[in-house]
Parts: sequence; C-alpha cells; structure tokens
Amino acid sequence: MKHILHLKSSIQGKESYSIKLGQAIVEKVQDKYPDSTLEELNLVDIDIPHLNPAVLRTFFIPGDQLTAEEKETIRLSDEMVKQLLTADIIVIGAPLINFTIPTVLKAWIDHITRAGITFGYGENGPVGKVTGKKIYVAMSSGGVYSQGPGKANDFVAPYLKAFLGFLGMTDLTIFRAEGLKVPEVKEHAMEKAINSIRVD
Ligand SMILES: Cc1cc2nc3c(=O)[nH]c(=O)nc-3n(C[C@H](O)[C@H](O)[C@H](O)COP(=O)(O)O)c2cc1C
Repeated sequence: MKHILHLKSSIQGKESYSIKLGQAIVEKVQDKYPDSTLEELNLVDIDIPHLNPAVLRTFFIPGDQLTAEEKETIRLSDEMVKQLLTADIIVIGAPLINFTIPTVLKAWIDHITRAGITFGYGENGPVGKVTGKKIYVAMSSGGVYSQGPGKANDFVAPYLKAFLGFLGMTDLTIFRAEGLKVPEVKEHAMEKAINSIRVD
C-alpha cells in the first residue's frame, strides 16, 4: 500500500494552480494505487520558522540529551522528517515566486535536511538517505521557463532536482503549469499541464 504526501506551498489560496495541478497528480496516483493513503500538508498553514540558530543547534544534539525546551524547538523538524520518511510518493507544489520557490517551501527543505537522518557522509562525500521515493513536482509560473528566452532563468526545476537528489530523492518528475500570465498561453496552460501528467 502506497502512502502519498502532498505538500502545498501556494500563497494564493483557492486560486492556486500548483495546488490544482498537485491534486490532479494525486488523483492519477490514486487511480494507479486505489488503496493508497493520502496526507496533505499545506505549508502556508503551519508556522515553520526560518532556520535560525536555536533550531540549527538542536539538530546536532543527540536525542537523549535534549532538554524539554530543545525538544520543543526541534519538534516540528522531527515531525516533518517523519512525514517525509513515511511517504512512498511525494507530490510537491512549487509555485514560482520571484524566480524561486516560496519561502515556506524553502523553510520545509531547511527543516527536513538533517545530517545523520536524511543525509550522511560516506567515503566519497555526502550520501542521501531519503531513498526509494517517487517525487512529482507540480510547478506553476506566470512566465514560461521550460523553453524559449525564459529557459535561461529556469532555476527552480534544476534546484529541486539537484537538492532533492542530494537527499536521495532521485526519481523525480516535474509537471509545469507555465505561462499563466502570458496572453494566448495562459488560456491553455492548465489544460496542457494536466494532460501532460504521466504516473509511472
Ligand atoms: C509575489 C509573486 C511573485 C511572483 N513571481 C514570479 C516570477 O518570478 N516568475 C513567474 O513566472 N511568475 C511569478 N509569479 C506568478 C506566479 O508564479 C503565478 O501566479 C502562479 O500561479 C503561482 O502559483 P500558485 O497559483 O500555485 O500560487 C509571482 C506571483 C506572485 C504573487
């Protein structure tokens, strides 16, 4: 039985295209695995702090030596790491905000990146420990970045591919709803994105 985790990070609520695209991906995954379970995490609804000195410090303290206060400081990170490690299939909503991912999604990344837990160091350098997952990314953007002049500024897809790969999540497929603010492109952008979904 597959467990799906759907991460949402849009700041545009019900109007969000990345959430709609993510949901369409989830539906296709559910068609393929009818007995799968689904957990949804809207990162905008939870208060993830920036990675700050207090949180970072706790990452390096052995669990059995944490004070009650430190346990509280690391609680959210521990919870999100557990959610990530429990999931078999992860759908990540990644809307473009100022050429990059929303700050809440970056905060999530900062909290699930834990030396000794989600990555380690081997003889030949870092080794990702979050293996065996299938990742689908639901990107949405006002402009077009997969081709044409915008391609030079296509930072999000290579970033997510590289960083999630660093953590061991190498089986990653990206679907894009793009050109959502471009006349004559926006009218069909969502339909095109949904039609492009392939679940393997
Ligand atoms: C604050 C803000 C910044 C944005 N920056 C970009 C950008 O740099 N490039 C782009 O193509 N679209 C940009 N957009 C447009 C969004 O990518 C577009 O609205 C998309 O639908 C966002 O995904 P969502 O609908 O899931 O929120 C921006 C939108 C907002 C609100």
